[in-house]
Amino acid sequence: MKKTILFLLAFNFFTLNILRADEGMWLPMLLKSLNESDMQSKGLKLSAEDIYSINKSSLKDAVVQFGGGCTGEIISDKGLLLTNHHCGYGQIQAHSTVENDLLTNGFWAMNQSQELSNPGLTATFIVRMEDVTAKVLNGVTDNMNDAERDKKINEAIGVLTKEVTSSSKFGAFIRPFYYGNEYYMFVTETFRDVRLVGAPPSSIGKFGGDTDNWMWPRHTGDFSIFRIYANKNNEPADYSADNVPYKPKHVIPVSLKGAEENDFTMVYGFPGRTTEYLSSYAVNMIMNESDPAKVKIRETRLRILDEDMKGSDKVRIQYSAKYAGLANYWKKWAGEVNGLKKLDALNKKKAFEQEFQQKVNSDNAAKEKYSNLFSDFEKNYAQYSILNKQRDYYVEGILGIEAVNYALTFNETIDALVAGKTTTDLAKNIEKLKADLPAFFKDYNAATDEKICAAMLKMVSENLDKSQQADVFAEIEKKHKGDFSKFAREVYSKTIFTSEVKMIAVLNDLGKSYKKLLKDPVYLLMKSSYNKFYKDVRPDYNALDAKIALLNRTYMKGMRELMTNKKYYPDANSTLRVAYGKVKGYNPKDGVFYNYYTTLNGLIEKENPLVDEFIVSPKLKDLYLKKDYGQYADKNGELRVAFCASNHTTGGNSGSPVFNGEGQLIGTNFDRNWEGTMSDIMYNPDQVRNIVLDVRYTLFVIDKYAGAGYLLNEMKIVK
Ligand code: ARG
Ligand code: ASP
Repeated sequence: MKKTILFLLAFNFFTLNILRADEGMWLPMLLKSLNESDMQSKGLKLSAEDIYSINKSSLKDAVVQFGGGCTGEIISDKGLLLTNHHCGYGQIQAHSTVENDLLTNGFWAMNQSQELSNPGLTATFIVRMEDVTAKVLNGVTDNMNDAERDKKINEAIGVLTKEVTSSSKFGAFIRPFYYGNEYYMFVTETFRDVRLVGAPPSSIGKFGGDTDNWMWPRHTGDFSIFRIYANKNNEPADYSADNVPYKPKHVIPVSLKGAEENDFTMVYGFPGRTTEYLSSYAVNMIMNESDPAKVKIRETRLRILDEDMKGSDKVRIQYSAKYAGLANYWKKWAGEVNGLKKLDALNKKKAFEQEFQQKVNSDNAAKEKYSNLFSDFEKNYAQYSILNKQRDYYVEGILGIEAVNYALTFNETIDALVAGKTTTDLAKNIEKLKADLPAFFKDYNAATDEKICAAMLKMVSENLDKSQQADVFAEIEKKHKGDFSKFAREVYSKTIFTSEVKMIAVLNDLGKSYKKLLKDPVYLLMKSSYNKFYKDVRPDYNALDAKIALLNRTYMKGMRELMTNKKYYPDANSTLRVAYGKVKGYNPKDGVFYNYYTTLNGLIEKENPLVDEFIVSPKLKDLYLKKDYGQYADKNGELRVAFCASNHTTGGNSGSPVFNGEGQLIGTNFDRNWEGTMSDIMYNPDQVRNIVLDVRYTLFVIDKYAGAGYLLNEMKIVK
């Protein structure tokens, strides 16, 4: 008896049958049927209809996709939008110069006329969503090949979205869910005049910098504030001085009540991408090959950037956003590998596959559909991982050389000129190249890039077989005896791609001067690498990608058919989702327990005037010394900075509103803990935490630190 129980326990531990507590990113329109009662039993006081409704205003009307990659929430009836500092970072940086450095000093508009416009920045609301699976897959049959299937599906998607866009003022897009087993349409309203209202200095908004990034305990005041503007009819419009603050359908009340251990929390936002249902073969490739390679490449690039940024303020500002972007996923991938190992993810996946296979073997109908799934995965991944490695070195390595990446943007245009094609596209492309030029050179330092070039070429030569290297490598070997620094020096002393003045001249007369570029060493380096990749890697890579996509679709279908004691949420795909969980600390390693919140005391403990990332501004220090926290203090008189909870989130959830059970704002999501970064591939309730900026700290900074308390008058503050 005891033995069987032990056996069952062990078996259960290894299988993934049961959805782990708090796992899942759910579709708002399905909350009623799938989650409402579970959420209410955990502390939600609202109904599913309060969260998502197409008949009345609901929480969804105050949640936007911000700038394509983040989330934001509406906290005033004048369109005030709260998101992360790192989400507004690109805009804050774009308004910064050495003389007027908003990154370092922060920025606060003291009235609406001082708010700063941000060309290209958008905020998108979801008007409604709809299951369009039957319509999209109508006429699609199992014996269609990929191309036929894609064509049919794309036609249907075209028709369906056009129906919406031609009969309303709204936008629409359709995305596959469950690897293409289902399709949902999202009807959208996108605002194009979104202005910067305020941002704390980096010493608050980026406190702890890359050292603390992806880490708990955390003290980063990661927020910034924008405002959506609309035309006089409250509709989206391009920037205009005549625009007025947007009047939202729902305004999120801001709570001063805070978050205590085990409190219900809900995150509403736009998670970007997860892959929770991959086969063990895919997980093996990611954790043992791809992630480690990419980590190594980025480490090298970051080291070079760091050296040069420390040596010059100009370079520091030029590269701060690029550095943050690179460092972010460098660290994430490293954490992901660790987390997957600690979770024994590979064996868990294999055990699940065995169980699946057993079900298939005992069911004749299933046998026909799913018998060869895993042997097919195995076969395809054996080839795929070879190509994927080449792709990683091309994308992360070769295209990490900025001049090469820049030259690549000229590729199509130059090809067209060489072929003598003078279409209207050509004129358009040239205009685009002209328009993009200033932004490239504003943030470009050729001396830094030259070092990166030498280092990247060296890494490629050391990590790919000779047969996998572009022709240019044989030349470097012959002419420069494999001395990549010497080669890079020569390239950068001759190229004109690194000179703004020369490139402007070339672009003013590209019809003729493109011939000059044909002989340019950066162009040649780009061309050689590009040709190799497009000839040797891409066609096979794409073909395998398609085969694997079909296997994934089949596997997903099989899981939902056969492994029925689990609720399946669709992988994140940058669409609106709800995650819910509890405020909770965790046990990062043996003998250590992390509390669920941090305070300003901890920020001061981290202070280090000698390290940029840990400088505390005198003004914040002063407020700390006086304990001048006002209504933002917790019940012990302390000022909380952040808390962590068990909501299942991913990239794209940054800036998401974090709600209490009553639908009031208690914080803004901004990160995950390092031990939990594998949650994109496998969730572990003991280790995975989302990191949330306590909204009381946000209000404290706006009010007491920045003196922009007038903004609070716009908000609905709940005491
Ligand atoms: N890790 C967070 C996310 O994935 C924040 C990144 C920005 N911060 C930074 N220090 N790079 O977006
Ligand atoms: N920091 C991430 C973001 O920008 C959130 C995460 O990956 O947890 O969306």
